[in-house]
Amino acid sequence: MLVDTHCHLYKEYYDSLTEVFKESFLNHVSKFIVAGCDQKSNEEVLTLVKNQDSVYGCLGIHPEFVTTYQEEDLLFLEKHLQDSKIVAIGEIGLDYHYNKDSKEQQKELFEKQLILAEKYSLPVVIHSREATKDTIEILQKFPKVKGIIHSFSGSLEVAEIYIKMGYKLGINGVVTFKNSHLKELLPSIFPHIVLETDSPYLTPHPYRGTKNSPKNILLIADFICEYLNISKSQLEKVTNENVRTVFDILV
Ligand code: NI
Repeated sequence: MLVDTHCHLYKEYYDSLTEVFKESFLNHVSKFIVAGCDQKSNEEVLTLVKNQDSVYGCLGIHPEFVTTYQEEDLLFLEKHLQDSKIVAIGEIGLDYHYNKDSKEQQKELFEKQLILAEKYSLPVVIHSREATKDTIEILQKFPKVKGIIHSFSGSLEVAEIYIKMGYKLGINGVVTFKNSHLKELLPSIFPHIVLETDSPYLTPHPYRGTKNSPKNILLIADFICEYLNISKSQLEKVTNENVRTVFDILV
């Protein structure tokens, strides 16, 4: 069975989450790690982990919300970091694609959450878009903190830096896109990857452009197995071992 290590299963995106879980189980996805992005979604994550055995959660303030989050949202987050089934801080990081004007505020918010990760010995789930240099520089200030580089799509050189720092790389539908070169990195980075869908976004080929769901992790898994000429059980063994290492959960 596979784990979707990064999805946003919020009520606003799906008519029935019960259906989403049912379909996913039928497609060999047994566990889900749902990431929060702001106060509203963090609250939803906390409810979801209580109601669904198979769901674990991450709490975080995404850089997209850097200008709208409240100081008390961070206090709320800290208060719930030790709740059962909260396994990481995320998704957090830097996004210079959409939010170029708030770089300094983003760095400050990112560091505040890395300090919490260090304080509570939790892994982090990192969002980094067009901000590789600053992301690496900031993460290097927190050598004890480890985690996942979510939706990794950089160069081999960058992959090797993250791997050396102890991070695993989250691979999603992007690897199946015809115009993506990410697949060419697979032979080198394979021992260090985890699988994710980033649902409802980044739907794999051939359903690109439609709403994503964790069941599609099978399309990503099939693509990787075919490209590397390995069995599904080999892929499962490596990725689940990485999930156990980072999140300390039974899979
Ligand atoms: Ni995400």
